[in-house]
Order: sequence, then C-alpha cells, then structure tokens
Amino acid sequence: MTDPASGQIDHVLDETRLFPPPAEFTAKAVISSEEQYQELYNRARDDRDGFWKEQALEHLHWFKPFDQVCQFEAPHAEWFVGGETNASYNCVDRNIDLGRGDKPAIIWEGEPGDTRTLTYNELRTEVCKCAEALLELGVEKGDVVSIYMPMTPELAIAMLACARIGAIHSVIFAGFSAESIADRNQDASAKLIITSDGLYRRGKVLPLKKTVDEALEKSPSIQTCLVLRRVGNDVPMTEGRDVWWHDVVDKQPGELPAVPLDSETTLFILYTSGSTGKPKGIRHTTAGYNLWANRTFQWVFDHRDDDVYWCTADCGWITGHSYIVYGPMSAGATCLMFEGAPNYPAENRFWELVEKYKVTIMYTAPTAIRAFIKWGDEHVDKHDLSSLRLLGSVGEGINPEAWMWYHEKIGGEKCPIVDTWWQTETGGIMMSPLPGITATKPGSCTKPLPGVIPVILDETGHSVDAEHGGMLCIDPPWPGMLRGVWGDEERFVETYWATVKGKYLTGDNARCDADGYYWIMGRIDDVINVSGHRLSTIEVESALVSHEAVAEAAVVGRPDDIKGQAIAAFVTIKDREPTEELRQELRMHVRKQIGALAQPDEIRFAAGVPKTRSGKIMRRLLRDIAAGRESAGDTSTLEDFSVLASLRAED
Ligand code: PRX
Repeated sequence: MTDPASGQIDHVLDETRLFPPPAEFTAKAVISSEEQYQELYNRARDDRDGFWKEQALEHLHWFKPFDQVCQFEAPHAEWFVGGETNASYNCVDRNIDLGRGDKPAIIWEGEPGDTRTLTYNELRTEVCKCAEALLELGVEKGDVVSIYMPMTPELAIAMLACARIGAIHSVIFAGFSAESIADRNQDASAKLIITSDGLYRRGKVLPLKKTVDEALEKSPSIQTCLVLRRVGNDVPMTEGRDVWWHDVVDKQPGELPAVPLDSETTLFILYTSGSTGKPKGIRHTTAGYNLWANRTFQWVFDHRDDDVYWCTADCGWITGHSYIVYGPMSAGATCLMFEGAPNYPAENRFWELVEKYKVTIMYTAPTAIRAFIKWGDEHVDKHDLSSLRLLGSVGEGINPEAWMWYHEKIGGEKCPIVDTWWQTETGGIMMSPLPGITATKPGSCTKPLPGVIPVILDETGHSVDAEHGGMLCIDPPWPGMLRGVWGDEERFVETYWATVKGKYLTGDNARCDADGYYWIMGRIDDVINVSGHRLSTIEVESALVSHEAVAEAAVVGRPDDIKGQAIAAFVTIKDREPTEELRQELRMHVRKQIGALAQPDEIRFAAGVPKTRSGKIMRRLLRDIAAGRESAGDTSTLEDFSVLASLRAED
C-alpha cells in the first residue's frame, strides 16, 4: 500500500509473536551469543578487508595467495585479487586433505527409490573423470557448458567438473522448454551441453534428450552433446555430435588435478528473469562466490560434522548451486540429494526421506510447506522426524500460518526456523536468523549477515523511517555479489546500479521494524514469484503474443494459496473465437515457449487491454481484477475493461 502523502509504503502484516531459540540449540551453536554476532558484524563492516582476509585464508584452499582483498569501483568488484584457487578443489579435494575422504558427500535417492552414496573420495574420482572427458571433448578454460539434467549426482559432478578445468557452467532447470534452452545456449555461446536420455517425473518419463535435440536446431555454437543414461528410453544419437556419458566418462583415469584459477575467473552463469522479456545470465566468479556460499552456509545452518543436510531445491536454481553444491560441499557436509517430487508415489515422500536418512537440517520453500498443509497432517504423522534440529525456508516470504505449521508439525516446536532472504544475484543468503541466537518472528527474515549492509530508501533515494517500507538496497561490495550480466554490461548497470547511486538495487520492497528486523514486502518491478521461482510478466506476455491468434496480452500475478502467486493473463485475440479450446492452446503455447512453470493459471479474453493515456498497461487494475477485488462482469467471453479503465484513470 502506498501512502500518497509520503510516497512510503505501509505494511499490513502485524506479527508480534517472538520465538527465542531453544537453550539446548544455543548451547552447541556455532554462533551462540549476540555479542559474537555483533563482533563478526561490526568487524566485517569496520575492517572489511581484515575480516574477509581471515575468512578466505581459513576456509578456502589457495594455490597462490591473494595480494589484495577487495578492489571496488562501483559497480565493479574484484575480490582476492591476484590469488589462485579452484572451487572444485575447495568442494572436493580440500575435504580429503582435511581427512574427510571417507565421509559421505552425497547421499542420493532417485524417484523410483534407487539410491547411491558417494564419499568425498568417490566424488573426487567421478568429478575428475567427467573433467577429463570434457577436456577430451575439446572443452577449454573459459568455454561455456550448458547443463540440462535431472537431479542425479551427475548433475553436481558435471558442475564441479566444469569448475575443475575453468569451464563456465550454465545450468538450465530441466523444466524449461527447447526454446528457452536454445535462447540460453545462444546468449552464452555455449560449446557443449550435458543432458540425459530422460527424466522421471511422478512415475512418467520426460524425454529430455528430445527437448535438447529440438533446442540444438537453434544452438549453432553447440558442438557436442554429452548424454547420461538415466531412464533407458530410446534416444536417437546424432553422429559426430552426441556421445554417451558411459562411453567417454567411465573410461577416464579419474586423476586430473584441479587447475589453479584466478580468483575472478567466471565460475558460472545462471539465467534469471528480470523485468524485461529476456532472462539475463547472472555471472558469478570463483573465490568470492565460493567463500560467500561457504560462510553463509556455516553461519545460517550451524553446520556440524555429523549433520545430514537436505536442501530440497533443484540444482537448476541458485539455491541448488549455493546450498547443495558450493556452500555445503566446501564445508565438508553430507548432503542428501533427491530426484523426485514431494508427492510421489505418495504425499509422505519427504517425511519418509527425513526418517530414513535421519536428516538433521532441512531447507525447503514456502510453496512446498503450503502444499503439505493442504495434503493433510496424516502424511507427516506417520513418520519419526525427531532427527531434525533446524529448518530453513527460501524463495519467497513465508506466511505466518505456514511458518507456524512448519514450526509445530515438522520441527516439533524444538527446531529454529531460518527464513533466508537472498537472490540469484547476491550469490548466497543475505538476511536470515542465526539459529542459535535470533529470536524469530514468523514472516521476517530478521537481520543481515556479517558483510551485508541493507538500506531502505524512498523513490528519491532517501532513507525511510523505521516501520516504513521502501526499496531495499544493499551497500556494496560483498564477496558473493554478482559480477555482471553475461554479455550485457548496460543491462547490469541499468538494472542494479542506476536507480540509486552507489547502491545495489535488489528489486524488493522491505521495511525494518523497531527491533531492526527486516520484512520483505514483494517486488517493485514486474517480476512475479510463482512457487518461489522468478518470472517476468513481460516474458509471459511475449510468449503469448508470439501465438498467431493473440493481438495483445497483459500478464499479472494474483494471490494463490499454494504457489504464492499464480499467473493471470488478459488476452485480446484476432481472427478467432474466444473458446475453451483456444484457451488451452494458448496455455500449451506458453508451456512450449518457456516451460511448464510459466503456463498461465488463468486466461481471460478481453476486448482490449486497459491502458493509461500514455499507453501503459494498467497493471494495478488488472491485478485487482485478477484477485477478484474488482469485478469486470462477464468472464466467460470477451470482457470489456474500457469503462473500468476510464473510471480508474480519473482516480
Ligand atoms: O523477491 C525475493 C524473493 O525471491 C527473489 C529472488 O529470487 P531468485 O533470484 O530466484 O532466488 C530465489 C532463491 C534465493 C527475491 O528478490 N525471495 C527469496 N527469498 C525470500 C524472498 N522473499 C521473501 N522472503 C524470502 N526469504
């Protein structure tokens, strides 16, 4: 809600409950007193270089020490200048050096129930073999490798193999369409793509290789397609382009030493939606990102050597990058990795896994929690969840109702909940409770981590008062911050650094309460958050208008009990009747253009998209209509918004 007088955004949520950490948790916690946090926080702020120098020397392996901790000339940061390290070494070899070679690195369960455990020693061999195969296939340092795979250990292995030789991975979530893969391949000029024959999804096989084949028709830079056999379906192999993983990877010796890489070597790019139609490749580099993932993992998840840690995300998103691979593995954690869906074969699958593997730390998303609530407590009650000691949440704000259920039902009222706020661009968690010390308030991501200086500003760039909302910005630099948008410096500057001079613009609104707790209040731009995944409304609009029957489209988010936001599209059509069949055709069209996650939940045919006199789509009006706050009359055929629009224009 915007207060027109002050231009400030007021909050609606009034949550006053406070949950202090259980004393027995605090007693053993890595950060166990407020003083300890204050000391870390103040040191990171007041002696930035000294603090990060110590952290980097203690927690990463250096082939060559750095000469300078940080060089920052807004908006460009370089961290650990002149140093040489390797993220694959940090995540694998370093654990072996520290005596953790026989410790399980990955405990994996596939959707059909097949399992595998890889110790750090075994992981090293597999990563080396894959890296050796990539070299044999002509991949060189600086080349981009696309990865479009199911959640198998090979996905993490492929990422670490790229890192080992200085190739840049670009992981594409396996739900994206051929069009989306081709766009990403082209934008990054990817040289090789790694995929699998298929993917298990709720008992069915999705033909991944077939989708990749289609994408490769429009990916001229790709020379090789490396295919893992996962499901055993029949796939055509193109001579001279496609090779089987078991033919080229398995035969390798598995000994390749990690290549020493300059700290600022690009580690990966990951595409994410912004406020325009085209996803951008967020670029992260080796040392700073790896350290940020490592430190934030340790602080927020209070990791101990005997933990079994489970992050339920997919490696296709930043959460999987930072909190399945680079954070936990560089900290020597044992990670459970799961291929399947939470409700297959039944709605108790997650809880069965927690019981079976005695998971101690679980990190999941509010959309999943809301689905569990809907499915009913009986699926949870069947299982012994007493191994759990800490719960995490990410992707969107967790509504107090879901928070309470997570706390009571899953955590047995004894597990702290860490509601972690961050973004693809930040590389790792920025604000979160520290489980041993922070008294939590349901719905608040509480306080910044050491190294993070948040500021809340109004539209003119001035600080807002406590309790008032505004644009959430971060005072740069921090080690994990994005280093750029792949191939588009202008967009990097324009999107993040042009609105408020010298500050990183997050794109979120937030408020800070009188206790210094932060509350995220949603986006300031046209990005919507569907099941914790970012989508640009314009991206979906572009997909819709690429259909021959669509003249114009306007897409908005509307509240959804499970997904957080659902996609509502208002479409004007040409040369066709507004039928149910067309509606279905348009939904499938978007699915084909972007992927299943972008498929509109609701399509309404409109006589015209309401616009302001200057031609801007009246999104607020459409959002109100989509949310049912305003009725536009007949919704079965063509709706006419012109009267409403003219009334609103007079507001
Ligand atoms: O709007 C915020 C929301 O998700 C956005 C970042 O999306 P993405 O880059 O895909 O990364 C998701 C995983 C880190 C943010 O700008 N968001 C993420 N976590 C939270 C959140 N909103 C509120 N509370 C959170 N804990």
